[in-house]
Amino acid sequence: MDRRIWNHPLLSFERGKEVTFNFEGRPLNGYESEDVASCLIANDQNVLGWSKNLDRSRGYFCGIGKCSSCLMTIDGIPNVRSCTTPVKEGMIVERQHGNPKVTQEMEHIPQSPNGEIKELTYDVIIVGGGISGISAALGISAFTPLKVALVDDSPHLGGQLLKQTHKFFGSSEEYAGSRGTEIAKILSCEIAKTDVDVHLDCQVLGYYDSGGYLLVLEDEKLAILRGRRYIVATGAYENMLLFESNDLPGIFGAGGLQTIMNLKGVLPGRKALIVGSGNVGLILAYQMLQAGVEKVTIVEAMGKVGGYGVHSQKIERFGVPILLNHTIKRAIGKDRVEGAEIVALDKGAEVPGSERVLDADMICLAVGLTPDVRLLQQMGCECRFIKELGGWIVNHDREGRTSMKNVLISGDASSIEEATTAMLEGKISGLRVAMDLSPDANLLGEIERLETRLGEFRSGPFSEKIRAGMGDLFGRGETDENGDDRREEAFERSYEGGGRTIVLACSQSIPCDPCVDACPKGAITKDSLTSPPEVDMEKCSGCGLCVSECPGLAIFLVRDLRDGRSLITLPYEMYPFPEAGEKVILLDRNGKKIGFGEIKSSLKEKFLIRVFAPNSLAHRVRNIMGVQDG
Ligand code: SF4
Ligand code: SF4
Ligand code: FES
Repeated sequence: MDRRIWNHPLLSFERGKEVTFNFEGRPLNGYESEDVASCLIANDQNVLGWSKNLDRSRGYFCGIGKCSSCLMTIDGIPNVRSCTTPVKEGMIVERQHGNPKVTQEMEHIPQSPNGEIKELTYDVIIVGGGISGISAALGISAFTPLKVALVDDSPHLGGQLLKQTHKFFGSSEEYAGSRGTEIAKILSCEIAKTDVDVHLDCQVLGYYDSGGYLLVLEDEKLAILRGRRYIVATGAYENMLLFESNDLPGIFGAGGLQTIMNLKGVLPGRKALIVGSGNVGLILAYQMLQAGVEKVTIVEAMGKVGGYGVHSQKIERFGVPILLNHTIKRAIGKDRVEGAEIVALDKGAEVPGSERVLDADMICLAVGLTPDVRLLQQMGCECRFIKELGGWIVNHDREGRTSMKNVLISGDASSIEEATTAMLEGKISGLRVAMDLSPDANLLGEIERLETRLGEFRSGPFSEKIRAGMGDLFGRGETDENGDDRREEAFERSYEGGGRTIVLACSQSIPCDPCVDACPKGAITKDSLTSPPEVDMEKCSGCGLCVSECPGLAIFLVRDLRDGRSLITLPYEMYPFPEAGEKVILLDRNGKKIGFGEIKSSLKEKFLIRVFAPNSLAHRVRNIMGVQDG
């Protein structure tokens, strides 16, 4: 069975040349863009090895080289992370039982010609080429001629952005309304215009205190990178959850699944259980639907959805159930996931007799992230535990300065937040370092402006936990003054006038405003970045621009045609994209079929459709599906 994705509404996968490799004596086909693990899963080989002591099967979990679940013997070299090793023509791939034999160890210790190690010196070295690290580098190079290195162990800049296909919230300054994949390209182009020295596929092996330098492995050679200042933006890794058989192949971290699905174009299963309804879990469910997953269920241990209402409504329109007060009890299957037993919870305790088995071939854990502070710990930075910020974090002040005066921290490595805050933090930490090394009054003004902006992003009710954690870290009372503890329930508001209705399915305080910028008539306003939008129908011309620009897919436009029908403008991001004249099934906000309509027009570049519906249904229509799929 070929598990590759060949049709996707947003992504086209550049797979490159076809290659043949040897998997335990059998020839298998792959593409040069694929890593070994993804390629094996594309060929329906889910067991990548067995655990050393109990010989339990092991599969793909994180997809970014952080968990060791995918260790294999490749071309005779044991314990190679198959999820980050590109597949090559003629490669020999074997799974491991017990302790693998080390046969060629001396040949593979990285060597440098003549025993010399290349040494490069910089003003600032930034470790981590994700959104925060890139933003730090851009911030420094925009204001100073300082010599900057940007180091990342992957082959591309962008980090997690590379697999984020949804549109981002925030404002235009933070690329709101653009997809993560697009933002990664924009930022990489910006970096290319600077003098920043980018080191990709460059693994930091450690920090050496004597003289203060990083030892790195680049192009299979050791090198020394010496900096006056270091900004560590190493991101985070995914949390595990305790339940029976939580190590079965087919259990993925949410980010791991995004990597294999959105970056590699491989869909490991068709029926998914997602554990956790934070933004990551909700976004993942939507991305799975786009990739072709047939059935998605979410369980959430809390009594309420953790993420934004706009994200949960997007998947509810496709009928995805979000089971509150439920969790996973065990994974079922011998060598891979074949089902999942879930159980209801009452005040966190399992309700006896409420267990039931879901048909599932993959289970995704979207249960939070832990800051990746391993390098910072090795550097000697002090750590402390603050649950609200993600667990073990590096002690730092509000400027991101750690206990080592030459080391700053930024992004998810400092505390787990949204991508937009990581971007702002990155810019600020870059400018602070620039200020240290090349003082300039302009920098101070910009830092102050960005800090105010960061405060706005953290002012809504969804940042309550972060504010509490920062209160612990920096001293309570100092960060809480912006706190708005209201968390409104998600509900829709309608604005009527001139035979038109605008429905806003966005009523929570989320930091976002592309709808305001999109409206050429100034009909949409917000009191602040985090307040819900309002519409003045006296100004609205019914152009529909706000519908296509809203990253939350939360705006609908209904026009009464005065002939018993209405024309509904709605966002649609699925494959196949409907054509004008096509008959479709109309769905309500819970994905329930409520009748039939006909597509008037469809604008694929904008992911926008206009559909005729009977007036009696018009105000309930939130989604469509093809008649053949119904
Ligand atoms: S439909 Fe056009 S004019 Fe009306 S609120 Fe939306 S963007 Fe503004
Ligand atoms: S309606 Fe406006 S504030 Fe709400 S998600 Fe859409 S663009 Fe953002
Ligand atoms: S290290 Fe390869 S799946 Fe985690």
